[in-house]
Amino acid sequence: MTSPERPLPAAGSVPLIWGNVPQRNKNFTGREDILDRLQQGVASAVAAVLAHALQGFGGVGKTAVAIEYAHRFRSDYELVWWIPADDPVLVPSSLAALAEPLGLQTAMAAGIEGAAAAVLDALRRGEPYRRWLLIFDNADQPEDLNEIIPRGPGDVLITSRNHRWQSAVETSLAGLEARLGRDHHYSLILATNLASDLAALDQPAAARALGEDTLGRLRSLMGDDYPLTLGCAANLSVDLRADGAVEEADRLAEDTRARYAATLGAGHPDAEAAAEGRRLDFDIDPPFI
Ligand SMILES: Nc1ncnc2c1ncn2[C@@H]1O[C@H](COP(=O)(O)OP(=O)(O)OP(=O)(O)O)[C@@H](O)[C@H]1O
Ligand SMILES: [Mg+2]
Repeated sequence: MTSPERPLPAAGSVPLIWGNVPQRNKNFTGREDILDRLQQGVASAVAAVLAHALQGFGGVGKTAVAIEYAHRFRSDYELVWWIPADDPVLVPSSLAALAEPLGLQTAMAAGIEGAAAAVLDALRRGEPYRRWLLIFDNADQPEDLNEIIPRGPGDVLITSRNHRWQSAVETSLAGLEARLGRDHHYSLILATNLASDLAALDQPAAARALGEDTLGRLRSLMGDDYPLTLGCAANLSVDLRADGAVEEADRLAEDTRARYAATLGAGHPDAEAAAEGRRLDFDIDPPFI
């Protein structure tokens, strides 16, 4: 259900495609917390989740964190592509430049828009690579990139000064709930995953509120011991702790641990992740069983 471990490609062969990533900063220090959160969150992003955004004022180190992430976790990926997004008009040509390494018709043959569209389609389908990372650096308005951010098996990292990225993340949940209903399985999975996005955006209170609401609905709809309910509870205990509710976090973590032990078993990957305080992320596609 979760994918805590991805099979690692053979050493020395990855990433097969590595494009435009700025050189690693040898003086990079600290930021371990955000790099950890990104690794846990980004590494399990699912199709419907908008993206993980690194948001903050100028000069706080958003780009530096994204560069460090790309270098540090490069062996998790087959393809890493850096896209300067300051000027949205230029984003399609950055994407189109991926056409050739992906074995698609290049911009010379298909035009920039055509090549960029084919690249996005290949990324969405995960062909030929599923483990891709796209970094959009310095994106301004969420609307500018909304159509062009691939939702697929890979990961998307965005740096931006614009705090509206957070509401863009929330909007994607609101859209799904409006179409399918709040209690549809997909809405509940997406809500569980979006709480992780909010946590990655340094919004523990918002992550906690969404987690509490989702957990309440999961418990009444699916029961206390259902795996998604337990995953949501495990994540909520992380957010409660980050939000300062330590005793409540401890109680929930202990209750969740006991329920895992009694149902899936303490050795199940979800139970182990929860016991280590790692977040769980749930796949929407393929369909949940
Ligand atoms: N953790 C770090 N260790 C060492 N240097 C850092 C770190 N974070 C940022 N820097 C340095 O600080 C400067 C500003 O950081 P960076 O360019 O990442 O900011 P930013 O948030 O992307 O800014 P902007 O919004 O202007 O794009 C850069 O020279 C960068 O190398
Ligand atoms: Mg920057």
